[in-house]
Amino acid sequence: MNHQSDDQQVAVEEDLVERVRGSLAGTADARVHEVMDSLVRHLHAFLREVRLTEEEWKAGIDFLTACGDITDEKRQEFILLSDVLGASMQTIAINNEAYADATEATVFGPFFVEDSPGIELGGDMAGGAPGQPCWVEGTVRTVDGDPVPGARVEVWEADEDGFYDVQYADERVAGRAHLFTDEDGGFRFWAVTPTPYPIPDDGPVGRLLDATGRSPMRAAHLHFMVTADDLRTLVTHIFVRGDDHLDSDSVFGVKESLVTDFEPQPAGTPTPDGRDLADRDWARARFDIVLAPAGT
Ligand code: BEZ
Ligand code: FE
Repeated sequence: MNHQSDDQQVAVEEDLVERVRGSLAGTADARVHEVMDSLVRHLHAFLREVRLTEEEWKAGIDFLTACGDITDEKRQEFILLSDVLGASMQTIAINNEAYADATEATVFGPFFVEDSPGIELGGDMAGGAPGQPCWVEGTVRTVDGDPVPGARVEVWEADEDGFYDVQYADERVAGRAHLFTDEDGGFRFWAVTPTPYPIPDDGPVGRLLDATGRSPMRAAHLHFMVTADDLRTLVTHIFVRGDDHLDSDSVFGVKESLVTDFEPQPAGTPTPDGRDLADRDWARARFDIVLAPAGT
């Protein structure tokens, strides 16, 4: 056997990295060049650091192929992969720098749907989704404390069985809506009290979680997306204080500032809008939102 010296081996590997980087020299767009050059350097550093075997390389290709195979208009396995690797939250952190006391952003997730039903202030976004009724209210303000009238508040959530409407085979629309803030920046609506649920784990990302001893569970949450003229769009959730999954959220989405009291209300407690819930318990939560200026 003709073993090369360690120095020769290093030289072979480094030469390849440099030749791949050199192949990018004709990239017209400076940003594309920057991103691709960094990707090549980090990818090769990873391969060389772990001394990837050919079997492992094949397993990686098969994994990515399986992610593609399971992806369709209702299932996006690559976003799930980004989420469980923390890449989604890292991108959010980079692009949503803290600004004064503006509300923090968190992961978007794959279950937002355009054209949600519009509801009036005080309306019911549950739309028949099973779960404990929950009254949610709050305000939208600027960092200067001014109310934001007419802000669009999109909300969406899983039902108490842990599924979003789009995960059912029927065409139901439930657990999602949008409404607009009043002249004082206020909003209020009925929802269901969020419960923890597993991210879809019957595909390659589920196998990855299993292989690394991780749970697919998301901490219980209610999604918000708030948009208003001249203000930074906020994509976030509120989480349920006391939920067991706050420290082990599978997509690293929990931020302390977003953990909210969902106060239990025993059956018979008068509701804020006089809604008759008969003998049902309910809950209430308050979420006051602060939007940063656009472009910050
Ligand atoms: C969600 O919160 O809807 C979600 C986020 C990341 C992955 C899967 C689901
Ligand atoms: Fe969610």
